[in-house]
Amino acid sequence: MNHLLTVEQLSSGEIADILKLAKEFKKGRGKPRQKQPLKGQTWALIFNKASTRTRVSFEVGIGELGGTSLCLSTNDIQMGRGETVADTARTLSRYIHGIVIRTYAQRDIEQFARAGTIPVINALTDDEHPCQILADLLTVVEKLGTLKGKKVVFFGDGACNVCNSWLFGAAKTGMEMWVAAPKKFQPGAEWVKRAAGNIHVTENVNEAAKNADVLYTDVWVSMGKEAEATERLKVLAPYQVNASVLKQAKPGALVMHCLPAYVGKEITADVFDANLKTIFDQAENRLHAQKAIMALLAKHR
Ligand code: CP
Ligand code: NVA
Repeated sequence: MNHLLTVEQLSSGEIADILKLAKEFKKGRGKPRQKQPLKGQTWALIFNKASTRTRVSFEVGIGELGGTSLCLSTNDIQMGRGETVADTARTLSRYIHGIVIRTYAQRDIEQFARAGTIPVINALTDDEHPCQILADLLTVVEKLGTLKGKKVVFFGDGACNVCNSWLFGAAKTGMEMWVAAPKKFQPGAEWVKRAAGNIHVTENVNEAAKNADVLYTDVWVSMGKEAEATERLKVLAPYQVNASVLKQAKPGALVMHCLPAYVGKEITADVFDANLKTIFDQAENRLHAQKAIMALLAKHR
């Protein structure tokens, strides 16, 4: 593993390695003699979209692994004024040891990875959010003991980055995945085909939720889609995670949300509040999963 650009490019074995190491980092956090695989290294973060969890957990994680982090917004660097992604990659590769990028186009991080000589981590693009799904898988395995055979249902914008990464994450870990979404916001047929898993796409919320082990949702208006907000809020309203949907699921089913949450929209306040523990464990797990990702990338350089 030289980069983390997508879940699609990860093997099942690599996912297992990341989850195993993430559990070790979680267990050992704050204890003496923690491994510091980024000691003496500087990692940069480029954020071209807003972030709370990803940015803070990466900065904290880099520090805990012994490294130094620097956060750049695209407006601070010449890339914001037209310098190419490739030249930015060539330049930064002379100074730093790894980079974390949140942006719009997947092709930009791929181009960065090709032109540069340092590990690149996708911190969210319009296509995928791999760090999120690795933390989610860690959360499910912690709480349900295993991934294989568990039924996860994604409600709402099934054509978004988080759902795309989930298609691959579920397929590669042997989970059964359902997407409950209106036609316009279902995952593209090409994505489902590429994921090649036990994947079902439906407009029927109750059919999808039946006997589910995990109910998952994300915002209805992803970053960059603000102009479509009115239409999205209307069309996605029937795909809310609420008490009626939850009733169809297995007793004790996990309710997960990648956050930020818009309570009252994709999830009701009662369901969100009753599942705070899972949802914020999930947020915490971003830190542990990303430390594992960086440690493995640093090792394979
Ligand atoms: N879930 C997630 O990536 O959160 P942020 O946008 O706050 O980083
Ligand atoms: N789908 C959301 C995820 C936010 C973490 C977005 O892209 O805005």
